[in-house]
Amino acid sequence: MTHKTTIILTWVTLTSILLTLQPVTCEPRATQASRLICGSGRATTASYIPTFVQQMERLSSNLNNSQTNFATTNNTSPPFYALIQCHKDLSRTDCLVCYAVSRTAVPGCLPVTAGRIFMDGCFVRYDNYSFFNESVDPKTDTRNCNSTSGFGGRDFKGGVLEFNTSVGGLVENVTKLALNNSGFGVLEWRGVYGLAQCWESLSVEECRVCLDSAKKEVMGCLPSADGRGMNAGCFLRYSTQKFYENDSLGGGGSSGLSSPGAKVAVVLAAVAFLMISSFAGYAAYMRILKRREEKKNMGMLSNSFNKSGLKYKYETLEKATNFFDISNKLGQGGAGSVYKGTLPNGDVVAVKRLFFNTRQWVDEFFNEVNLISAIEHKNLVKLLACSIEGPESLLVYEFVPNKSLDHFLFDKDKVQILSWKQRMGVILGTAEGLAYLHGGCHVRIIHRDIKSSNILLDKDFSPKIADFGLVRTFGADRSHLSTGIAGTLGYMAPEYIVRGQLTEKADVFSFGVVVLEIACGKRNNAFVEDSGSLLQTVWKLYKDGAVAEAIDPLLDGEFPEQEALQVLQIGLLCTQASAALRPSMTQVIEFLTTKDEDHQIPIPHQPPFLNARALMSQGLSSSSTSSPLTKLGLSYTTTSQSSTAPSSEWAPLRIDEMSTS
Ligand SMILES: *[C@@H]1O[C@H](CO)[C@@H](O)[C@H](O)[C@H]1NC(C)=O
Ligand SMILES: *[C@@H]1O[C@H](CO)[C@@H](O)[C@H](O)[C@H]1NC(C)=O
Ligand SMILES: *[C@@H]1O[C@H](CO)[C@@H](O)[C@H](O)[C@H]1NC(C)=O
Ligand SMILES: *[C@@H]1O[C@H](CO)[C@@H](O)[C@H](O)[C@H]1NC(C)=O
Ligand SMILES: *[C@@H]1O[C@H](CO)[C@@H](O)[C@H](O)[C@H]1NC(C)=O
Ligand SMILES: *[C@@H]1O[C@H](CO)[C@@H](O)[C@H](O)[C@H]1NC(C)=O
Ligand SMILES: *[C@@H]1O[C@H](CO)[C@@H](O)[C@H](O)[C@H]1NC(C)=O
Ligand SMILES: *[C@@H]1O[C@H](CO)[C@@H](O)[C@H](O)[C@H]1NC(C)=O
Ligand SMILES: *[C@@H]1O[C@H](CO)[C@@H](O)[C@H](O)[C@H]1NC(C)=O
Repeated sequence: MTHKTTIILTWVTLTSILLTLQPVTCEPRATQASRLICGSGRATTASYIPTFVQQMERLSSNLNNSQTNFATTNNTSPPFYALIQCHKDLSRTDCLVCYAVSRTAVPGCLPVTAGRIFMDGCFVRYDNYSFFNESVDPKTDTRNCNSTSGFGGRDFKGGVLEFNTSVGGLVENVTKLALNNSGFGVLEWRGVYGLAQCWESLSVEECRVCLDSAKKEVMGCLPSADGRGMNAGCFLRYSTQKFYENDSLGGGGSSGLSSPGAKVAVVLAAVAFLMISSFAGYAAYMRILKRREEKKNMGMLSNSFNKSGLKYKYETLEKATNFFDISNKLGQGGAGSVYKGTLPNGDVVAVKRLFFNTRQWVDEFFNEVNLISAIEHKNLVKLLACSIEGPESLLVYEFVPNKSLDHFLFDKDKVQILSWKQRMGVILGTAEGLAYLHGGCHVRIIHRDIKSSNILLDKDFSPKIADFGLVRTFGADRSHLSTGIAGTLGYMAPEYIVRGQLTEKADVFSFGVVVLEIACGKRNNAFVEDSGSLLQTVWKLYKDGAVAEAIDPLLDGEFPEQEALQVLQIGLLCTQASAALRPSMTQVIEFLTTKDEDHQIPIPHQPPFLNARALMSQGLSSSSTSSPLTKLGLSYTTTSQSSTAPSSEWAPLRIDEMSTS
């Protein structure tokens, strides 16, 4: 397989590079003094690895340009901070070599967002926050003791104890020296050598704290011949062998790269770094991909995509969106952000940049590509292409010029009020798109996240259903699918929330909510405690025979009353608590299109009463502890709190998929 060949080639090349480096590494002390220490948080965006590579490169040039052996980088998005500190006795050349070598080890932490490594001549760390003034970190501070006893052949007449005392005095003195000498000191006493180095970003006080702690660690090494204390902010070492340069101190440091050997080493190390970085990123990517591969046969997908010529180069799309400039951002979906892009041929498209996010990320990506590429309907947003080779996965959709439906319905300062006729068009078009998903194409698809912000309007205000990130197909043999809960509260059917039961009727419920929102011009807020949800309000007015009161007041009474009544009736039918009582989408289209008198729309029987409190008690009383609602408990709590915020704009809660393993 080609993947294996790549991996083997990488390692062969790396091994030879590291072998080449070996003779050079003694001088710059580019030997590893600690293991590679990685954090725990993982990158959540695909742009992380490119940022990593770019910033580690910048650190190198910052170091080359700095007057000292110290450099940092900061201020990036995603947050990435890095620090390099060479011990001050290293020449500039040796420092660059030490950094270059350590840089090949650090990508071993990817895709974790924090890592550090202590070399004998330098220290490199990267993290997602500004850690530059950190002196100690009990979780990661470490020491490294040589197991060989240090006093053996030496002239310490008092034996171990004298050796101990001498080293103790040396360490004490070299620490003092460093504190009085901008964070660096070397000392020799009776054949024992000591070095103390604080990072230059620390204050004297922070340096003292760090060295005091390192001193204790190092003393624990006694009576070893060699001990290193390695803290978040400093490095302290003693050894019976001279390990530092004291002739290069002061004026000796050469600037730039003088020796050709060192130049070669730096170049080779940089190459190795790039290869390891890409290898680490690639390996992480492959891990995710493999898991996916086991679940679905991917061959079909890539074949059909290669044939269809729906591929774009990542670079092309990057340029088309002006490098994902914020001014081109159209919106934010559950699976990623959407940008407007202009292709080289002038075509305007919408580019969805998927979040790099664990298993769900790949799942959603392939779901979307696989399903949408096979689907074509005037009321569904069309997938034009995708890009999977670049650092992140991109989907290219047709560009729908108007904003999503929710902007037309709920925005405070609406550009335009939709007329009743336009609203009817949106309702019918959405119904047709959904009916197609439910049965009109060769697979049965449940959208799972029908809501007004997922319905886009084109220039003629004809609706197009978007965001298929949550769609799932299911075979004809299975009546429902309950792998997890996903969707937006306020639009989710009660049986789906409470029991995780997913059928087309869940989409019908969401559609009903959208219908009522369109007719009434109000959001269905599941968390309004006093006034109740939109569904309750409409139900009450319907019972009282006062449906006209429910219709959007912005229409100024300009709507046919009989039709309005029917629309509300359809909305209520679709949102009945019992899934079995809800009509299918095909029936809904019939209700909407057949105008003949004896074709009556059924009377809705069951009120939905879907508000958070009702749901909560329903869920708690429904015995089963493994009910998805139990897992949703936290989401409910947090959202009820946020809904009490002064904002009148209620942002629908999005519940991300949770696997019910
Ligand atoms: C940094 O990563 C940790 C997880 O290791 C996370 O808890 C924290 O929120 C992250 N901070 C930032 C600023 O992203
Ligand atoms: C370091 O800077 C010098 C010029 O100041 C430049 O010639 C050299 O190529 C740089 N080396 C690296 C490794 O960036
Ligand atoms: C880090 O950020 C500060 C401001 O927050 C800025 O002054 C400094 O130049 C930055 N350093 C680097 C290396 O980018
Ligand atoms: C580092 O500095 C920040 C402010 O710049 C401060 O909030 C933080 O407490 C400092 N940390 C330590 C360990 O001194
Ligand atoms: C320990 O120190 C001795 C002498 O200083 C050296 O020969 C040996 O390689 C060291 N061992 C380790 C594991 O570092
Ligand atoms: C001194 O050496 C002895 C070995 O006999 C060791 O057990 C002890 O911890 C050392 N004491 C100090 C203060 O390092
Ligand atoms: C440490 O410094 C003190 C005072 O400068 C000196 O008396 C002592 O001999 C030194 N000890 C060692 C081990 O260097
Ligand atoms: C620190 O250095 C100054 C001169 O630079 C010297 O006068 C002073 O004695 C030193 N203090 C210590 C504790 O070594
Ligand atoms: C530096 O090296 C010279 C010999 O080259 C030696 O006499 C002196 O003690 C050394 N100084 C330190 C601080 O190690």
